[in-house]
Amino acid sequence: MRYTIATIPGDGIGPDVVSEAVRVLRVMAKISGFGVQFTEVLMGGAAIDATGSPLPESTIEACRAADAVLLGAVGGPRWDGLPGNLRPEAGLLGLRAAMGAYANLRPARIFPELTAACPLKPEIVGEGLDLLIVRELTGGIYFGERGTSPNGEAAWDTERYTRAEIERLLEIAYRAARTRKKKLCVVDKANVLESSRLWRRTAQEFAKRYSEVETSFMYVDNCAMQLIRNPRQFDVVATSNMFGDILSDEASMITGSIGMLPSASIGSAGPGIFEPIHGSAPDLAGKDQANPLAAILSAAMLLSYGLKREAEAAAIELAVSSVLAAGYRCADIATGAPGETVLGTRAMGEMVARAIEEDMHEKPQPSASTRR
Ligand code: IPM
Ligand code: MG
Repeated sequence: MRYTIATIPGDGIGPDVVSEAVRVLRVMAKISGFGVQFTEVLMGGAAIDATGSPLPESTIEACRAADAVLLGAVGGPRWDGLPGNLRPEAGLLGLRAAMGAYANLRPARIFPELTAACPLKPEIVGEGLDLLIVRELTGGIYFGERGTSPNGEAAWDTERYTRAEIERLLEIAYRAARTRKKKLCVVDKANVLESSRLWRRTAQEFAKRYSEVETSFMYVDNCAMQLIRNPRQFDVVATSNMFGDILSDEASMITGSIGMLPSASIGSAGPGIFEPIHGSAPDLAGKDQANPLAAILSAAMLLSYGLKREAEAAAIELAVSSVLAAGYRCADIATGAPGETVLGTRAMGEMVARAIEEDMHEKPQPSASTRR
């Protein structure tokens, strides 16, 4: 088996963390015996500088032709002055739309080794926080009609959803809930927004259809509070594009740092996009300081969701756990406790790669006599 993975390092720390995810995928391919070819393409600020466009047509073509897309991060102060449709972020939104990646899965799972890095009291997180935010990704206010009045004194963006957009997102969220704790919370602002009331009506039908899943509804402001007050009440959270953007940053902090959260953007039959949820952190770019674990865990999601190689995905997660258990930390998840060793971006990537090699080589190989 040979896979093609389009990589989009992007801006800021994007290239730093993508290099480490690629390192880990190469090691995994070698050990597991599959072929992998990386095609690096431009998007965001890097693409603006090179081509004038945040999303060159050649990037879309390369991504469509690939088996999966691995993305770093885009954006930075250099391009902040550009009009909205020419900003680096417009490239990312354009790519999500072009790839039909309408569902963004953001698992917020706390590694037991990192409970000390969680800012909440231990009795609140317990040992086992594990929630999945399923964020709608190609609709809503991110893509609705927007404008600025001629005199620049008014501006608007529109939250608009169709039933079909909500249904396809809920389909993925309910299917995920079925394989988990069978609890799904639809987060909206149905006390104010018409679009949220459409979400609710649509979800109520799904709740009947997926009767084995316990459905609940929560206003987004309450959800922001509940995530801090009692995050363990959640299993799957299904929500709109903007609410999901905001709540996933909040949930990531519970896991210790936004540098830990991976994501998978999937939907249509085409290749998915796998990216850490963090931004480009321009102040850390190129300094070997960024935490590559969110990108490495995104590579694990790429293997499981994108290439259906569950065993290899699990092996990456296990390697990350064992590196954390051995006390290795990046600066964002270090607490200063004895036994911790703080590593830079590259050293952390190397450590995970080495752990994979050790874990997978330790596995008993079939001996000559039992081999058929
Ligand atoms: C994210 C990011 C993006 C978003 C930005 C960079 C456009 O914050 O992936 O969460 O808002 O979707
Ligand atoms: Mg975000």
